[in-house]
Amino acid sequence: MKKIIIAVDGFSSCGKSTMAKALARSVGYLYFDSGAMYRAVALFCLENGLVQGETIAVEELREKMPQIRITFEADPETKNSITFLNGKNVESEIRSLRVSRIVSQVAALDFVRTDMIAQQREMGKAKGIVMDGRDIGTTVFPDAEMKVFVTASAEVRAQRRYDELTARGDNPNFQEILENVLQRDHIDQTREVSPLRKADDAILLDNSNMTREEQQEWLCEKFKEITAE
Ligand code: CDP
Repeated sequence: MKKIIIAVDGFSSCGKSTMAKALARSVGYLYFDSGAMYRAVALFCLENGLVQGETIAVEELREKMPQIRITFEADPETKNSITFLNGKNVESEIRSLRVSRIVSQVAALDFVRTDMIAQQREMGKAKGIVMDGRDIGTTVFPDAEMKVFVTASAEVRAQRRYDELTARGDNPNFQEILENVLQRDHIDQTREVSPLRKADDAILLDNSNMTREEQQEWLCEKFKEITAE
C-alpha cells in the first residue's frame, strides 16, 4: 500500500494530538506533534530569561535560535512520542499553563516558523507520518494526501484541557483556561505568517459531540478510501 502524509490541523485543545496519535498507531505511521516544537521553543525562552511578563525578547531569541535542538523519541512502554529540548525530556513541562501563555506569540515569529518548518519537512521526507498542528496542510505539507481540519466549541475544548491538567495533578482554573484557548485562537488565526485556516482540500471534522471511538472509526475509513485510490 502506498505511504502517504496525513496532516491534522485545527483549533487549540480540540483533541488533535490524541486523535493523530491513535490514527498513527492504527495505521502503523510515525506521529509528530508540531505544537510540541513551538512549545519547546517557548520553554527555552522562559528558561533563558527571554520573557518579561508576557513579552518575548525577540532579538535575543533570534540570536539564540541556533542553540535550540528539538528531538523526539518514542516512549519504550507507551510508544508515545516524547519531546526533548537540547537532550532534556521536557514532555510534561511544555504542557504547563506558563508555556501555553506565551507559545502563540513565539509561534507567530517568522524566524521561529522558518526553522521549525524546515525540520518538519525533513521528518516527512520518507512519508508514512501523521503530523498535527496549525499549518501542516496549508504550509508545511500542502501536497499531503490526507488533510483533516478539526474543530469543537471553545467551551468543550477548555473543558478537555481542564480535565487533562486535573488528571495530571494540577489545580487549574476553568475560566483562565477558556481565556487562554480564546486568546490562542485569535493569535493563531490573525498572525501574518501561516495563519490557522482550513486548507481547501481538507476534510472538516467537528468532534464536539463525537466519542473518541466514533472519531477513530471515521478517520480510519477516510484513510482506507484515500490509500485505496
Ligand atoms: O494546546 P494545543 O494542543 O491545542 O496546541 P499545540 O498543538 O500544543 O500548539 C501550541 C501552540 O503552538 C498553538 O496555539 C499555536 O500557536 C502554535 N502552533 C503553530 O503555530 N503551528 C503549528 N503547526 C503548531 C502549533
